[in-house]
Amino acid sequence: MLDPLPLELSNFPVVWSSPPHYVHNNRHSAEPLELSTETRLSSLSLPDSCSSSGLPDPFDYDPLDAPMYSHRFPTGHRLNERFAHSYVLREEIGSGGYGFVMVASQRGNPGDVAVKFIIRKKVPAHAWVQDSKLGRLPTEIWLLSRIQHPNIADFLEYFEDDVYYYLVQELHGSPWVEKHAVEADGPGMTRNHSVPGLSSSFSTTSTADSVLLTPMSSQSPATEVFEAQLFTPIPDEGPLAHTKCLKDLGPASRRRASHDLFECIEQSPGKRLPEPQAKFVFRQVVEAVWYLNRQGIIHCDIKDENILVDAQLRVKLIDFGSAVIEDPLKPRPFYDIFYGTTAYASSEVLRKQAYRAGPAEVWTLGVLLSYLLTGSSPFPTESDAIEGRVRLKAGIERKMSSSVLGLMRECLEPEPDRRATIEEVRNHRWLTKE
Ligand SMILES: Nc1ncnc2c1ncn2[C@@H]1O[C@H](COP(=O)(O)OP(=O)(O)OP(=O)(O)O)[C@@H](O)[C@H]1O
Ligand SMILES: [Mg+2]
Repeated sequence: MLDPLPLELSNFPVVWSSPPHYVHNNRHSAEPLELSTETRLSSLSLPDSCSSSGLPDPFDYDPLDAPMYSHRFPTGHRLNERFAHSYVLREEIGSGGYGFVMVASQRGNPGDVAVKFIIRKKVPAHAWVQDSKLGRLPTEIWLLSRIQHPNIADFLEYFEDDVYYYLVQELHGSPWVEKHAVEADGPGMTRNHSVPGLSSSFSTTSTADSVLLTPMSSQSPATEVFEAQLFTPIPDEGPLAHTKCLKDLGPASRRRASHDLFECIEQSPGKRLPEPQAKFVFRQVVEAVWYLNRQGIIHCDIKDENILVDAQLRVKLIDFGSAVIEDPLKPRPFYDIFYGTTAYASSEVLRKQAYRAGPAEVWTLGVLLSYLLTGSSPFPTESDAIEGRVRLKAGIERKMSSSVLGLMRECLEPEPDRRATIEEVRNHRWLTKE
């Protein structure tokens, strides 16, 4: 639960950048979209050798020398000393508007973590909070340190230096690659994954390692078996990776496959998930959104790239860089700037009207559902999105149940007051009935 909010949350900004992309072949960046200039309605190596343990020997190199780990660090940049004593940076797994994300090994502990380097200067004015004990912090870090849910990546700790905040989170998901690359992998690969029931207790500390070593067994006779080649994560390099000297790989080339739903959809046959798997993923996203909403938190940038997924399709939401906090007991405020992703922007946002974050978030769920099931946006053009005219790829509707089509349309209702609420989405028959 959130503490009472000692916040200095200012207005929630937004903007047009590139035209929406409708096909699932492009990552979409969250860019602020200015809705109106007049109104601001409201409210947010490296070593030369490797030690026998596999980790670089700290005496062979300067562990604070940041560019040794990634070319993204400015020349001469020094890592936070406490961080460098606890973690060894490895490869990059993501980058975006605010910074970049790297895998790190914990010194003296098994298991890797994800470290998001957030460039202080790039955090917009509205995305800071003033905490009475911790001082001024990016909302993303502040929020994550206060919430806990099986479908939200766990916050571990944070560090800072004069250029970056370091957000240390659990590393979740499986590195998704083309199935051909996987087929050669042989032993250790779980070829058939059974869809676990949602009621099963998911581990909140799943890593690619644990996934591959301990594939989940079928939870109920009613569960569906995934298509054999559908979900084909590559084995994580795991402890073996530590035996590689970072210098062998070279900072610029050290980039590993993403663990997110974007990549999972990209690597799936037909670039879409079958309905049972889509339902399994979507239900977990809805649970996270519903949990957040009850506390007045709206993520504001739900999309496949911000959803991590592992080989059992266990989902965790990340990237709270655009999130807003509202008082759940008061009428929800209107915003006139949108910081989400254009391809997921709701009808009222596209019409440049003031909007409430909750209904706009439900719209993004409708778009996500379309990407999951068809690999494409439900709207070929911007005017289709404004009118809420769902136009799916030819022939694909026949492969979908009327129930899921109904849910998608209820999320993509252009009039926000008539759109389904998150409660209604959660209780929709498509999600409640197997
Ligand atoms: N905890 C994590 N485990 C595995 N992969 C992660 C994790 N956090 C981030 N990633 C990867 O890094 C990518 C970028 O992370 P994130 O979305 O947090 O940053 P961003 O998009 O740059 O943020 P912003 O939109 O705030 O600029 C994700 O899409 C995902 O592929
Ligand atoms: Mg992101």
